Amino acid sequence: MLLITQLDYLHYFGRFKHNRINLLLIIIKMKDSEYKRKYYSADDVVDNYDEFRFKNRGGRYVHEQEVQAVEKFLGDVDRQGMTLDIPVGTGRLIPTMQTMGFKSLCGADYSPSMLAYSKNKYQNILLSRQDAFNTAYSTDTFSAIISLRFFFHYADISKLLKEFRRLVKKDGCVILDTIVWSPRAWTSLFAERLGGKMYTYSDENFTEIARQQGFKVERVEKILLVPSFFYNFMPSFMISFIKTIEKFAPKRLFTKSIWKLTPI
Ligand SMILES: C[S@@+](CC[C@H](N)C(=O)[O-])C[C@H]1O[C@@H](n2cnc3c(N)ncnc32)[C@H](O)[C@@H]1O
Repeated sequence: MLLITQLDYLHYFGRFKHNRINLLLIIIKMKDSEYKRKYYSADDVVDNYDEFRFKNRGGRYVHEQEVQAVEKFLGDVDRQGMTLDIPVGTGRLIPTMQTMGFKSLCGADYSPSMLAYSKNKYQNILLSRQDAFNTAYSTDTFSAIISLRFFFHYADISKLLKEFRRLVKKDGCVILDTIVWSPRAWTSLFAERLGGKMYTYSDENFTEIARQQGFKVERVEKILLVPSFFYNFMPSFMISFIKTIEKFAPKRLFTKSIWKLTPI
């Protein structure tokens, strides 16, 4: 099983070999925000986004952990209010939000290819091309803003939080995730396949940055004892083993924090 999982990924990397040198050069030269916008606009990245991350048992487990935390945090949010998933990516949160009964769903992304993908797949969602750092939405618009797998792409997240503080209603909330530790922050491991450099934040550091931008922490959920991408390489028995350990392990060892912030 382990062999099959590894062969699967060797095959996958092989398909993208021609892009790797170019992408590495691009990562070195470009600013993070510019690189991330470009990277996720490439058609092959969009077409393979879900397959690469969430196709096998490990990837699906990671996806479920993230979605369950978001679902929990959205429990008391007004179903009639406007909600925003930014960046919406391939729309993996949309089915959950629709099942939960959210009526006015908006999805925004900078990548036209991501937006086209989501538009093709889902109905009844208002999709729009936006730069998350500087959106065209009006102030005090959303009851909830969800932003998964985005903040860890940036060394400076103050500007993002400032923009989200502008968009969210006084009684609304922002749900997002940060990474506490990952080898990807110390090396360029998988950088060219996973959207460039990544940045970690201790929970204390993130809480302080959020406070400075007008948010307090309502709730935080700790998930994944192993950096998310590595679940993709694990055989089933190892995932079951890690799941058992995750029930007892100290929360400070977990790699990902999912936050529910509310305006101060
Ligand atoms: C790792 S994906 C996360 C997508 C989705 N939230 C998820 O959890 O699957 C990052 C997304 O950020 C988008 N993106 C990159 N820079 C952006 C920007 N400045 N404004 C809005 N979206 C951006 C990319 O197009 C891509 O869809």
